[in-house]
Amino acid sequence: MMRDGRKKLIIDTDCGSDDAMAIAMALNDPAYEILFFTVVSGNVEAAQAVQNTLLTIERAGTYEPPVYVGAEKMLLKELAFAWETHGTDGMGDLGLKPERLRPAEGNGVLRMLEALRNSEKGEIDLVTLGPLTNLALAIRLDPEAVKKAGRVTVMGGAGFGGGNVTAAAEFNIWQDAEAAKIVLEAELDRIMLVGWDACLGESMLMPEDIRRIERGSSLGKFAVEVNRILMGLNRERFGMDCLDMADPAAMAAALCPDCIKTCEKYWCEADVSPGPGYGNVLIDRYGFSGREPNAWICSQLWPDRYKDYIFRTLGV
Ligand code: RIB
Ligand code: CA
Repeated sequence: MMRDGRKKLIIDTDCGSDDAMAIAMALNDPAYEILFFTVVSGNVEAAQAVQNTLLTIERAGTYEPPVYVGAEKMLLKELAFAWETHGTDGMGDLGLKPERLRPAEGNGVLRMLEALRNSEKGEIDLVTLGPLTNLALAIRLDPEAVKKAGRVTVMGGAGFGGGNVTAAAEFNIWQDAEAAKIVLEAELDRIMLVGWDACLGESMLMPEDIRRIERGSSLGKFAVEVNRILMGLNRERFGMDCLDMADPAAMAAALCPDCIKTCEKYWCEADVSPGPGYGNVLIDRYGFSGREPNAWICSQLWPDRYKDYIFRTLGV
């Protein structure tokens, strides 16, 4: 814990529009101190994701943790960006850019390892909002250092639902399934995957929620505006302006555990086989594998608590 009682946190992000909302929330949670951000390609190229992270920090107007770039390429798979979901700049193609902040010198993976090596076991929590490439590289370089992390919360996997990039896979895992395989095999004792299903159903941000956020503060307005392309997609998909906020759901599960409704531990593995199953997180729900459970799966949030956490941290 920090001398001032705040919990230390490192956030790894491929900063697209839903990452931005999640980062804005975390920067406004007084119980946590974000030591720094590490950035990975995913929604957009890492360089663009760095700019988007810096922009979000500026718009949050709280404190300004360093932003370090990490992996620009996936371990093996070619990158496929999510421009149709977040825009080509990842932030709704509004032309927004950071006015003042610049990225920190140094590599995010090495910086993460340095912080973990110098920490007490459990002192620093990790939250990952993008492909797991940075975390996988850190594990390969120094697995014992990564095992010193506290809670590791991953936005990743489709949980018990369907995929959002293929029938089987959720985007963060699909973008680098080999990295996810390394992370799931690393025997991290407090890893929790928040699947895409956790932000759907009653946890989907509905028109009235979006209006409250957009009208309630300048940061809320920013967090909604950068998600305008996703909202347009959902208007076609669901017939109304709604937002499936995957990264905010993971952030809420990580920083506000009271928001978690369903979370159980299972044996899970990432499917790296070529073909339709690539990028799926296979969850052995009924123990067929006989393997010891290796990850917590958060599949449901308490909708009211989750949305209240978003409202509170966005100041609306
Ligand atoms: O599948 C949703 C995830 O993929 C979110 O983290 C989104 O930002 C993209 O990275
Ligand atoms: Ca993300």
